[in-house]
Amino acid sequence: MKQQTRKLGNSGLEVSALGLGCMGMSFGYGPAADKKEMITLIHSAVESGVTFFDTAEVYGPFTNEELVGEALAPFRGEVIIATKFGFKPNADGSGRWNELDSRPEHIREVAEASLKRLKVDAIDLFYQHRVDPNIPIEDVAGTVRDLIKEGKVKHFGLSEAGAQTIRKAHAVQPVAALQSEYSLWWREPEKEIIPTLEELGIGFVPYSPLGRGFLTGKINENTMFDSSDFRNIVPRFSPEARKANQALVDLLGNIAKGKNATPAQIALAWLLAQKTWIVPIPGTTKLHRLEENIGAINIELTANDLQEIDSAASQIEVQGNRYPENLQKLVDR
Ligand SMILES: NC(=O)c1ccc[n+]([C@@H]2O[C@H](COP(=O)([O-])OP(=O)(O)OC[C@H]3O[C@@H](n4cnc5c(N)ncnc54)[C@H](OP(=O)(O)O)[C@@H]3O)[C@@H](O)[C@H]2O)c1
Repeated sequence: MKQQTRKLGNSGLEVSALGLGCMGMSFGYGPAADKKEMITLIHSAVESGVTFFDTAEVYGPFTNEELVGEALAPFRGEVIIATKFGFKPNADGSGRWNELDSRPEHIREVAEASLKRLKVDAIDLFYQHRVDPNIPIEDVAGTVRDLIKEGKVKHFGLSEAGAQTIRKAHAVQPVAALQSEYSLWWREPEKEIIPTLEELGIGFVPYSPLGRGFLTGKINENTMFDSSDFRNIVPRFSPEARKANQALVDLLGNIAKGKNATPAQIALAWLLAQKTWIVPIPGTTKLHRLEENIGAINIELTANDLQEIDSAASQIEVQGNRYPENLQKLVDR
């Protein structure tokens, strides 16, 4: 099945209008899912026309890239795989990977290792996962530019970078896409980031487009997460915040009823309606949800619908930070 495609800015990179975020299959939201089942899920996504898959070195670490590489090996050349560099294991030996490392030599090491895990000759889209304050962004962009010249990488991306950083990087090596959080419960990119991307011709890939699951209506203040689930430490997911933020889900539910759709589909259709160069990457471990999410492509939100959503959303103040303190300081640099 062919899906609608979208162009990520002026980069020449063309991908399905919705990608598939693969992180949660291995990492972040409780124990890793069964590998065989996830390979079947990824194959179903390809059959449904998804051509854009998102992973990162740090998801696992390593296991998510391995999964994506194995699952997509039969479709080499037909799909775009995006991955990310820039984290390293914490010095405290905890096994966590919250520290940054975008030294040029490290970027090169990660590129080589990711190529092997992904089983590809070139990384289609290589994002810096977080801006590293110790390494000038020009050096990062220059390193990726060299990797592109050597044929090891095809396109350069940034994640959670601020507007000035995007401009500096883009001057050295054109940035194909910015991947940052954006959804009805995190609209900060509308202020400065989206106008900057529009001006420079850079595509936008919103991550956590379903608010890490919250905007689907399947999570409420009583939901219990597995002890290893990242959402346990996200202030926006405290039971009090969930209770307050339910208003946003109710709004999506109301619009969904009128469209014979689901809240998740409205959350995705809303993102798709913002710009033609926006490509959300919802994540799921479940086939029926993959199909539901892909269905968002066919939901038309009229100017009236969008205005209704805007005015209702402007009455709701979303509660709680989107990251715990130690990770909050790594975003928007
Ligand atoms: N650059 C970055 O720093 C960064 C940060 C976070 C994420 N990402 C990328 O963005 C991708 C997507 O973000 P995300 O996974 O954080 O959040 P998301 O896509 O907003 O939400 C994923 C969550 O929603 C649930 N879900 C998905 N579809 C659903 C539906 N139709 N109904 C009910 N629940 C549904 C999933 O659970 P089930 O699995 O149970 O369906 C999962 O818990 C990730 O996979 C990753 O590749 C990047």
